[in-house]
Amino acid sequence: MLLRRKAIAPLPPGPRRKPLIGNLLDVPFNNPWAVFEAWRKKYGDVVYLNILGNKIVILNSLDAIVDLFERRAGSYSHRPVFTMVGELMGLDMAIGLNNRDKVWRQQRRLTALILGPAGIKQYIPLQERLATLLVAELQESPEDFAGLFNLMENSVIIYCPDTFKVANSVYPQIIKECEETFVLVSQSIQYGAYLLDFLPWLKHVPAWVPFSPHSFAASGKARILSTVRRPFQFVEDEMKKGTAKPSLVSHLLSNRSDVEGLDFENILAWAAGTMYGAGAESTSATLTSFLLAMAVHPDVQTRAQEELDQLLKNKRLPTMEDRAALPYLCAVIKESMRWHVALPLSLVRTADKDDVYNGHLIPKGAIILPNVRGIAGEGDYLTEFSPERHMREATGVGQDIDPYAYAFGFGRRACPGQYLAENSLFIFAASILTAFKITNAVDSEGKTIPIVPRFVPGLISNPEPFKCSIIPRTPATRKLIANELLASSTT
Ligand code: HEM
Repeated sequence: MLLRRKAIAPLPPGPRRKPLIGNLLDVPFNNPWAVFEAWRKKYGDVVYLNILGNKIVILNSLDAIVDLFERRAGSYSHRPVFTMVGELMGLDMAIGLNNRDKVWRQQRRLTALILGPAGIKQYIPLQERLATLLVAELQESPEDFAGLFNLMENSVIIYCPDTFKVANSVYPQIIKECEETFVLVSQSIQYGAYLLDFLPWLKHVPAWVPFSPHSFAASGKARILSTVRRPFQFVEDEMKKGTAKPSLVSHLLSNRSDVEGLDFENILAWAAGTMYGAGAESTSATLTSFLLAMAVHPDVQTRAQEELDQLLKNKRLPTMEDRAALPYLCAVIKESMRWHVALPLSLVRTADKDDVYNGHLIPKGAIILPNVRGIAGEGDYLTEFSPERHMREATGVGQDIDPYAYAFGFGRRACPGQYLAENSLFIFAASILTAFKITNAVDSEGKTIPIVPRFVPGLISNPEPFKCSIIPRTPATRKLIANELLASSTT
């Protein structure tokens, strides 16, 4: 086999491999970016590694990613097997990890119905109302911004309450449970998070053997299965009672139809659970990065607010229709997505067969990592934030690449929630900047608390917790929000 491969083409260049362990010690598990960047400079766009016998290919340019994931989609649209979280904990039924082509296609068909360009229009009134609720809540509890962002996107997906002051209702309990599960999932869907991913034969170690992976896997599985069914169950119960509010999951349930030979109820529950997990967390991480960027780049914030004021004259909050008239704000949102990419390595793929790309062999079964963070050119967070680069004609090179070309993934597995997310990001960001000034917080002695942008590693990378001040921009803001709240609850 080795001889045959050698005859096809050499492997891509990469760091020297040690006997048996290969490059195990070369890749830091947290924040491997600096190492990836050094390898990009040394070896080029396609880099090969081998860790404990697992073949890994890093793609460092958008051209290489598009060539493989889009132009050769037939061979590069499956996910690798995540032995721990996928196989043993059962997460391989989620849309994002599913490799069962028939079921995955049904799940994508369902999401396309409600998340396609036509489908998302039905959520615009909901998103506008949520944006008003968001600024009203932020005015009262600005320090809770991270939790509120999460609640907001969750609300598009499962249920929009009349007010967020629902501390004792079942709704926040669902969110809390999902949040905790999502931390486990986000840490686990990074290839190599568990030794088991590299050494899958370890799954045959019986459960009674000390340190067997099975007891950990069993508790993870129980937790994931219960969480996945929660949004589905919650909305279904609300629908039976006649109290369901319009949401993504309620629309999915209304589209119930039989799918020949497939367990439709199960497919639907997983589609709902996946959208809830994948959608809410990635949108709120992006929004939190936007807020952080505004706090550390006040000049950009002021310019975006001038654009908003010119249009809205401080008389109303923005609506989705205002988007075309706010090009600078739209560029600010794009730049926030480039400044820190929410999914720095997107979601990994695998090669279904041996393939030759630019004279190098991409071996069957190789795990392919698209280094999206490297393509975005994340650099010094305090000095580099330039929305202007997204307003001039795109050169398609380095930091001038349109972030929408990489932030939502590629080809057949590209994010189905992109249009919904774009709308959420626009209406939430526009409403926040219309209503509030975002600055450094001050401590009890009146001293400014510095903000150092740092990000938590993971499949979805959030900013590390930070403090900032979110205060109404003018004395009239409170009245404006109260009026808008009243108007939106009566429409
Ligand atoms: C700013 C927000 C978002 C970002 C940055 C984002 C990004 C991504 C990325 C990078 C992928 C992997 C694509 C690939 O492998 O090529 C993905 C997959 C996915 N996203 Fe999103 N996403 C966002 C919001 C959403 C929303 C709102 C939903 C649903 C309501 C959603 C549902 C999904 C699903 C189901 C997948 C798996 C697709 C598959 O494997 O077939 N995402 N997303």
